[in-house]
Amino acid sequence: MKPNKRQIDEMNKLYENIDRHAKLYYEDDSPAISDGEYDALLRELSELERDYPEYARADSPTRRVGGAVLNTFAKVRHERPMLSLDNVFDEGELMAFVTRLSLEKPSFVCEMKIDGLAVSVVYEDGVFARGATRGDGKVGEDVSENIRTLKNLPMKLKGGASELAGRIELRGEVIMTREQFAELNKTREENEEPLFANPRNAAAGSLRQLDSRVTALRGLSVFLYYIVDARERGVTTQSEALRRIEKWGLPVQSAWGVCGSFDEVLAFIERWREKRRELDYATDGVVLKLDDIGLWDGLGATSHAPRWAIAYKYPPETVYTRVLSIEISVGRTGALTPVANLEPAQVGGTTVARAGLHNEDEVRRKDIRVGDRVKIHKAAEIIPEIIEVDKDARTGAEVPFEMPSFCPVCGSPAVRLPGEVALRCSNRASCPAQLKEGLRYFASRACMDIRGLGDKLSEQLIESGFIHNISDVYALNMDKLLTLDRMAERSAQNLLKSIENSKKRPLSALLTALGVRLVGRRAAELLTERFGSVDAMSQAEEEELSSVDGIGGEIASSVAAFFRASDNIELLRQFKDYGLNMASDNARSATGLPFSGMSVVFTGELPTLSRADAEEKVKRLGGRAVSGVSSKTGLVVAGENAGSKLSKAEKLGLRIIDEAEFLRMCGE
Ligand code: IVH
Repeated sequence: MKPNKRQIDEMNKLYENIDRHAKLYYEDDSPAISDGEYDALLRELSELERDYPEYARADSPTRRVGGAVLNTFAKVRHERPMLSLDNVFDEGELMAFVTRLSLEKPSFVCEMKIDGLAVSVVYEDGVFARGATRGDGKVGEDVSENIRTLKNLPMKLKGGASELAGRIELRGEVIMTREQFAELNKTREENEEPLFANPRNAAAGSLRQLDSRVTALRGLSVFLYYIVDARERGVTTQSEALRRIEKWGLPVQSAWGVCGSFDEVLAFIERWREKRRELDYATDGVVLKLDDIGLWDGLGATSHAPRWAIAYKYPPETVYTRVLSIEISVGRTGALTPVANLEPAQVGGTTVARAGLHNEDEVRRKDIRVGDRVKIHKAAEIIPEIIEVDKDARTGAEVPFEMPSFCPVCGSPAVRLPGEVALRCSNRASCPAQLKEGLRYFASRACMDIRGLGDKLSEQLIESGFIHNISDVYALNMDKLLTLDRMAERSAQNLLKSIENSKKRPLSALLTALGVRLVGRRAAELLTERFGSVDAMSQAEEEELSSVDGIGGEIASSVAAFFRASDNIELLRQFKDYGLNMASDNARSATGLPFSGMSVVFTGELPTLSRADAEEKVKRLGGRAVSGVSSKTGLVVAGENAGSKLSKAEKLGLRIIDEAEFLRMCGE
């Protein structure tokens, strides 16, 4: 068939489009379209390629396994390629696959297709030796340290020494449970960090962390489903392989079964179509595998998928409904976010009546208007989302959305800070909506953990005028609380106890609770570890903050700006007066050391000490060695040829000593 120009253009457009979305999905972990839409693009391209093979690109995405190798991890060559699977989307295509096998009465294993991240896990003599991602199928990334943090993966296999001797390689899928995903995104939302689109992307982003401590915090899990060269271990069927993996003490998903006929396969697919939503991990189909491993080699594989297995993909559940209105919600930091109120519709087992629209750009891009008929789904079967507008259904009565120029709650002007997408309410100090969200966040579990101070009560306390500022929480008492509607003495007592207990929360929790932009739980822990007290942190220069492993320049400048703002200085003073814990245990026990809370600058060459040794002493004795001189520097140790830092220190009237004096201070 000779293509016309339009078809060649179409193919080129598809190549470009798919490449862009593949990069967003595999490398940036931030897809812009759903998996279903991506599959549809691939299918469209694959049909055109079938008709016009001479125009098919050799590196076509239809032939690729997916996922490029990032050069930040060591590379691992897979001894056996990590293949992907071909997909089918309906019964007919599935039947065609089975017919192609031309086997008499084949028996299959049906397993849920887990929507995670493919990994290879190697054990040597029964002990965990290496974990790797798939990468391009031939070369993956060595993510052993991160794989070690997986909650349900044992580092040692169960079984006798001879059974486990040598190398055992398994393949499986790393996942984030829905529960973990919801919690992670909630925290990220509260910290105004970008949200993960689905558990798969969250798992991918977490597994590719260079710092395995971050991975550990994300609480990932794994399910294994494949033994490489199983027959060498005496395993002859896939069902036996799954049982063997389990016997070794490794996690296997429970949703699988042996099907002796095509009808049984269809029954399995039907049984799990709805029931899969009860699983705590996301699935997007059923994988059908020939049970008899002895038949696998004979059937072989294409460049990217085995011929003895196939993936049946469930259609993503989408329904149509109508946009009744678009309202603006005001976040803790004043960000104004449009939210669509929808005509209630059933999707994936629950009623959906609202969908977040993220920001104005998103509404414009999708051109969502009030009154529109829209297609919705639940991203990761959790988060309601408008996929697209049914533009053919428009009557002309639909009303385009305009972001308000005022905060809908307090009426203050909405402003856009330079470099930001979000509009914000400019009334940081007294917008009741910001205060309410801030209060709720402050009291949340990861922060001050004040039980009983939820949404409703926060609202009541603000409306009644008892709380104008977060620190007013600590001025609440029995008299005030009992004036509130429906507040019983018992609950008031419990609340006050909870508030009192919150004063003893660890410093990292207080720091998280302050809601410094970009500082979530993790950054708060790192800062606490390094500085030990609010005082030390508030005196640190931006450069010093960003020298902390894991604290980037943007976070450092946000922290520095926070501690410079006069209302924050006042807030911290009030917290101190109310008796909140403002230092970590280490820092408190470190007070009394010669350099406690002090920043020390070394300049010039010291006669006997190396710079590293000198800095180490400062650190051990409670201080911080920093490189820049400022009015906040506590001490300058000057050696030979000290230059501009020394003159600056003199100008600022700082305390300047030599090495001998320094050693005396160290007690040597
Ligand atoms: S078997 C050599 N079983 O889906 C065949 N894969 O889209 C290896 N997947 O590459 C694959 N659940 O990463 C298999 N129960 C399951 C699976 C599964 C999810 C992944 C796997 C595969 C991808 C294809």
